[in-house]
Amino acid sequence: MLSTSNAASISDLRLVARRRLPQFAFDFIDGGAEDEINLRSNRSAFQKLELVPRYLAGVSDPKTETEIFGVSYSAPFGISPMGFLNMAWPGADLAVARLAARQNIPYMVSSAASTNLEDLATAADGNAWFQIYLSAMQGLDDQLLARARSAGYKILVVTVDVPRPGKRDRDVRNGLEIPFRLTPRIIADLMLHPRWSLETLKHGVPGFGNFDQESMEKIGTQSLADIQKTLFSQDLDWDDLRRLRDKWNGPLLIKGILHPEDALKSIDAGCDAIVVSNHGGRQADYGPAAIAALPAIISATKSKVPILLDSGIRRGADIVRAKALGASLAFAGRAFAYGLAAGGTAGAQISYNILQSELVAALGQLGVQDFSSVREEMLMGHAGNQHR
Ligand SMILES: Cc1cc2nc3c(=O)[nH]c(=O)nc-3n(C[C@H](O)[C@H](O)[C@H](O)COP(=O)(O)O)c2cc1C
Repeated sequence: MLSTSNAASISDLRLVARRRLPQFAFDFIDGGAEDEINLRSNRSAFQKLELVPRYLAGVSDPKTETEIFGVSYSAPFGISPMGFLNMAWPGADLAVARLAARQNIPYMVSSAASTNLEDLATAADGNAWFQIYLSAMQGLDDQLLARARSAGYKILVVTVDVPRPGKRDRDVRNGLEIPFRLTPRIIADLMLHPRWSLETLKHGVPGFGNFDQESMEKIGTQSLADIQKTLFSQDLDWDDLRRLRDKWNGPLLIKGILHPEDALKSIDAGCDAIVVSNHGGRQADYGPAAIAALPAIISATKSKVPILLDSGIRRGADIVRAKALGASLAFAGRAFAYGLAAGGTAGAQISYNILQSELVAALGQLGVQDFSSVREEMLMGHAGNQHR
């Protein structure tokens, strides 16, 4: 039977996760918006990009070290911010924070994490970047920014692709509310998954680690989409971004950009890097795959700032594909969440091992000694590779 000990891939971990988690918890992690076309196109767009192997290149031990903002990381991929991640397994947030420290990879801490930003900064030991959603609630942003600063975060990521909550049909069908409302359907789901239910009960039902009692009371019990409406500002504009820029001293990244003009406006507003992302297909089901939106953004921004990418990374070769199209670093969300859900806190390491070993193997096949030398010419269809 498939388990974490014989899982060969991230999709194997997903299958184990599906067995272990109550359906509402698995669907929260796994699901995408509406018909999930975008969720699937994030994968198919990667799969269409063929990299042409080059042999007899004398590659020994390929190097994967990558530098951004003057910091050197051991691998060219990191962990995307995930709110409410302890739904995967109790302690999931802390497990990814520790993984980031152990493996020296970047980790974006979600402001909607189940664990508070101070504990995650300590556990990630300098490898954590703080991700914020600008809030509709008076004063909340300034409080979070002040806490992030004093916890030692240097890099701030602002996510802009939730002007309206993503309509995730699976969550609507499951009646997912925070804190859980114990409907007969959810009780039956919990009883069918006793291991997750008992562990979760023992550690406390996951909530939002960063919001004080007063904010939580204002939020009350609501569907996740309604909580997002209460918490996140729906009418952000470029002036809001400029105001945020003025408040933060270190590097500021904008996450959730898909249009080249928005990328250019982000640079004008003072952003130091752009994360091309469609939120893993959880927001606008009619939009492009993030990797498909990348080339136009790379060509418009002309290397003025680093361009990062997430959404759809499941294989080590996807990280090479993103780099070949010009992304400096790739991030993955669900690849880590599936590992956590499948293997508990130890599962984050399993996800990392799979991605990193696939990446190193791909570099060997592609004749690349150093990840930094991955080039667009390696893609099929590029001049020099047009033999069909
Ligand atoms: C369970 C879950 C929670 C998420 N929460 C956040 C969040 O709080 N902030 C954010 O910017 N993005 C959030 N995202 C989006 C991820 O940061 C990332 O963009 C996405 O997962 C990348 O796609 P992938 O899962 O295919 O790797 C979340 C994604 C998932 C799966």
